[in-house]
Order: sequence, then C-alpha cells, then structure tokens
Amino acid sequence: MSLVDDAARVRENAYVPYSRFKVGAAIRSTEGNLHLGVNVENAAYPEGTCAEAGAIAAMIAAGDSRIAEIAVIADCPAPVPPCGGCRQKLAEFADPTTPVTLATTDGKRLETTVGDLLPGAFGMGHMDGV
Ligand code: THU
Repeated sequence: MSLVDDAARVRENAYVPYSRFKVGAAIRSTEGNLHLGVNVENAAYPEGTCAEAGAIAAMIAAGDSRIAEIAVIADCPAPVPPCGGCRQKLAEFADPTTPVTLATTDGKRLETTVGDLLPGAFGMGHMDGV
C-alpha cells in the first residue's frame, strides 16, 4: 500500500463538522514507521488542527524523529496546498529535499518537496549566538 493510500484511509476519520473538508496525512519516518493524521476542527475555529500537524504529533509521540516522506490527500479539484503554519512545521522535522505528495481522491498527484513549499524556512540556526 502506498503512502497516499494510507492517507486516504485515515482521511475518513477526519473531524470536520464546520468545513466538511476532510484531509488525511501519512508520514513515513526516517525510522521506517507510519504515522497518520487528520484535520480536527473545533467550535472555536482557530483551534482546529490540520492533518499534517496531527501526523507530526503522532510521529513525535511514537518516539520517532524525522519525516522521510509525507502524503496529504483531500477531495478537491486540485491537490490542496498545505497552510503556511504546516509548511513551517514540516520544515522543522524534514529536510528541504524531503518528498511531499499532494493528492486528490480522484487520482491527481502533485509531487513536491518541503524546500519547494517553504524556501528559506526559519530554523534553529537563526538563534545561534543569542
Ligand atoms: N486543512 C488541512 O488539514 N491540511 C491542509 O493542507 C489544508 C487544510 C484543513 C484545515 C481545515 O480543517 C480544513 O482543511 C479547511 O481549511
């Protein structure tokens, strides 16, 4: 089963009573394990969390360290672009060359990388010497 298939499977569990827009994310960690996430919305709208953030949280909670590859899937006309906050979150736990597959439930695929999604990400090095 591909990482997109894993993301599609978990997407069904998304909690989206406000947007009705289900998103699933699947990470393969550098340790070789699978970590899944969905968007989880909240009546206080800004407190909702994205599928990517959920998958990263699952990876860290499981004791793994880095993203080797991630796939994100939604039911929309074109592959959904991760929000700005998730781009920064991905940059924290992946390399600029880490592959990202953005997929739609009707079979479209956009292959990109963490560095293409967020060139010049803020990182720990920015605080050297503080
Ligand atoms: N969403 C994600 O979970 N990931 C993305 O890459 C884009 C958007 C969620 C947030 C919100 O629950 C819904 O999709 C609509 O924006």
